[in-house]
Amino acid sequence: MAEPKISDKPIAEKKSSYRKWVESEGVSLIEGFFIEDIKTVPLQPWKRKGGQAAIICLEGTGETDDAYVCEIAPGKSLRPERHLFEEMIYIVSGRGATTVWNEGGPRHTFEWQEGSLFSPPLNAWHQLFNGSGTQPARYLAVTSAPIMINLIHNIDFIFNCDYVFGDRYDSQEDYFSNEGTWYEGRVWETNFVPDVRNMKLLEWKERGAGGSQVRFQIAENTLCGHVSQFPVGTYKKAHYHGPGAHVIILSGKGYSLLWPQGQEIRRHDWGPGSMVVPPANWFHQHFNAGAEPARYLALRWGSKKYYGMLGEGLGQTDVDVKKGGHQIEYEDEDPIVRKTFEEACAGAAIKSQMEKYYKKG
Ligand SMILES: [Fe+2]
Repeated sequence: MAEPKISDKPIAEKKSSYRKWVESEGVSLIEGFFIEDIKTVPLQPWKRKGGQAAIICLEGTGETDDAYVCEIAPGKSLRPERHLFEEMIYIVSGRGATTVWNEGGPRHTFEWQEGSLFSPPLNAWHQLFNGSGTQPARYLAVTSAPIMINLIHNIDFIFNCDYVFGDRYDSQEDYFSNEGTWYEGRVWETNFVPDVRNMKLLEWKERGAGGSQVRFQIAENTLCGHVSQFPVGTYKKAHYHGPGAHVIILSGKGYSLLWPQGQEIRRHDWGPGSMVVPPANWFHQHFNAGAEPARYLALRWGSKKYYGMLGEGLGQTDVDVKKGGHQIEYEDEDPIVRKTFEEACAGAAIKSQMEKYYKKG
């Protein structure tokens, strides 16, 4: 065979299809490990949305999922859209309504407020309205846009596909208002959570220190979420899992430690509005170093219903590493962990409550 003639042009720019899309949208991309406060992230106009926005793709997502913050001006609405990626929406501030419809189907509208969580079903049309004439409404969305755009790399198909996913949303009248179903393992299948900041949670002993939690399965998504809370003067056990878990602090003051096994520990101090995404297979551990319970929302892979995506939710994240799981028990911690926490408590004039959990082992 003759030698092939080599093109004098490179095959492609070394940039993912997702990154190219973000650039073409003309919105700045925020990167790194941590966002100090989603309430104050600076925004700029995003023509596709018809609102002010910033796209966030933190290191820990592995570019499998991403987030964006978007603000709807007082008395205004965003443009209707549909897309072939999932989108979980958490209302950061304000109140308003969303109208959802399948192509050619009836329209249903539901109202939301600060703390609400919902998801426009995959490829269903949706439009968000600000319900106030004087205050902006701001939300944070976590989406599967990166993995979908990187796989399909055809933006027209992602945003202009006519297929109706009737298995996800069949225009049911009560889709966003029915009570949903509770399952074992603190799982609530629902399509609308009125207020994640104030909902009642259920005890979860295995993760340590008096913690409680509820998991969400929403809109037949492969993305899912949970809300966790842990008491004053306590911290959770370290564990690791797959990429893309967006941890959004709802209340409390504290810090998280993140480290790849055997390597240097990073520390991020947080308060309400902070967001951190632990990278795949990095240990991470959350510490309450403030005077009130710490509560966070995690939007992530690891659905209990659509199982096995990206190594999340495989049932090992609350099992001791010595037993083949992905969690470090308190007695096996690097002593620096306990020492750092005691210093943080002393600095905040808080009494550590950890002694009773250490003793239990
Ligand atoms: Fe985690």
